[in-house]
Amino acid sequence: GESEYITLDPGFKNTGSTESAITFLDGEKGVLHYRGYPIEQLAEKSTFIEVAYLLIYGELPTKEVLEQFRSAIRKQMMIHEDMKNFFVGFPSKSHPMGQLSCLVGALSSFYPESLNPNATEEEDNKTIINLLAKMPTIVSWIQKKSLGQPVVYPKNNYGYIENFLNMIFGEVTGETTFDPVVISAMHKLLILHADHEQNCSTSTVRIVGSSNANLYASISAGINALWGPLHGGANQAVIEMLEAIKNDGGDADKYLAKAKDKNDPFRLMGFGHRVYKNFDPRAKIIKKACDDILEKLGVQDPILDIAKKLEEAALNDQYFVDRKLYPNVDFYSGIIYRALGFESDMFTVLFALGRLPGWIAQWKEMRDNKEPIGRPRQIYVGETKRDYVGFDKR
Ligand code: CMC
Repeated sequence: GESEYITLDPGFKNTGSTESAITFLDGEKGVLHYRGYPIEQLAEKSTFIEVAYLLIYGELPTKEVLEQFRSAIRKQMMIHEDMKNFFVGFPSKSHPMGQLSCLVGALSSFYPESLNPNATEEEDNKTIINLLAKMPTIVSWIQKKSLGQPVVYPKNNYGYIENFLNMIFGEVTGETTFDPVVISAMHKLLILHADHEQNCSTSTVRIVGSSNANLYASISAGINALWGPLHGGANQAVIEMLEAIKNDGGDADKYLAKAKDKNDPFRLMGFGHRVYKNFDPRAKIIKKACDDILEKLGVQDPILDIAKKLEEAALNDQYFVDRKLYPNVDFYSGIIYRALGFESDMFTVLFALGRLPGWIAQWKEMRDNKEPIGRPRQIYVGETKRDYVGFDKR
């Protein structure tokens, strides 16, 4: 039948879904470029909003253009007051990722111009700015709800990261100032997460968007894909794993053995990657940043020692060597987020905030290229035709 013409590739391990000019990745060499610029240089020299512009529009902005972009975002950081009602409905301990996907999806109801699949470029840009502007505010409301505290509104005199930190950690009264070490750590982490070509959540955003669903709906779907512990949820899972090892006497070898045991579903969280087979360049930068930041903040976290012990043990273990399993971006990021004061269930939300420009850029590219609707095929292996039978014959 026709299925003999269909190539089966579960998990799309060898299937390219699109041509893309956004992110270049060489898994053998451990290379990652955004629009041609090496990730190491961007993490060192750029800012998150500049990288967002670069990813979405393809070039580094001039000073004036960047200022306009920043100012447009700053002006849209408030969210519709009626969105507060959503928070009343969530149980106080509901997971931040579930709340985030719901609230981002709900933005389309408050900003319905996004619903038009034939929107002009200017209208699309408005939606893009809205998303970049409102997502930090939504994330901060989620945090405040979990603490039972009143929300802190965005301020016009703050930069993007300062505004975010102030809405998260600040109080309604008074000005909070943030250590430049903290601000620069946030820029670095968000930049390192900003895009990663056709990963699970990004492919989700493109495939949802390919049906002409609006940008908010597409990003909301991406957030749900990111939630899983095999993808973005790994950063929370790593910290929980390290905590468990610590509370269990700190025996890294025991957990290594569990990870190798094929009868045990346990995997070493923060290890392994579909594409990187020598090292994850993001993990390299994050590991160094982690040491730097903890030292500068004077934080001593016993979990860092366990992470290092585990990493060393794994890198010298035949099982991990044979399968080319190395620490990925999520292995050390949680330790930094924790040092900055975030609870572990907020880590994946921070990943989402970082990945947002990448998702937007990929959605825009898909639309600009007028890509067809995403619709994979299958090979049917079920029953052949049979006749319906009544209860008495089953
Ligand atoms: N611990 C133990 N064994 C592992 C691990 C791990 N973390 N990762 C892969 N393996 C083994 C796996 O059991 C398989 O062994 P075998 O060939 O004997 O059956 C082999 O390595 C290949 O694994 P795979 O599942 O076929 O590889 P994949 O490309 O489908 O999965 C992955 C990639 C990232 C989902 C996987 O490595 C994993 O589950 N890692 C842990 C979760 C994690 O850290 N995710 C974050 C990924 S990076 C950032 C992001 O995407 O958010």
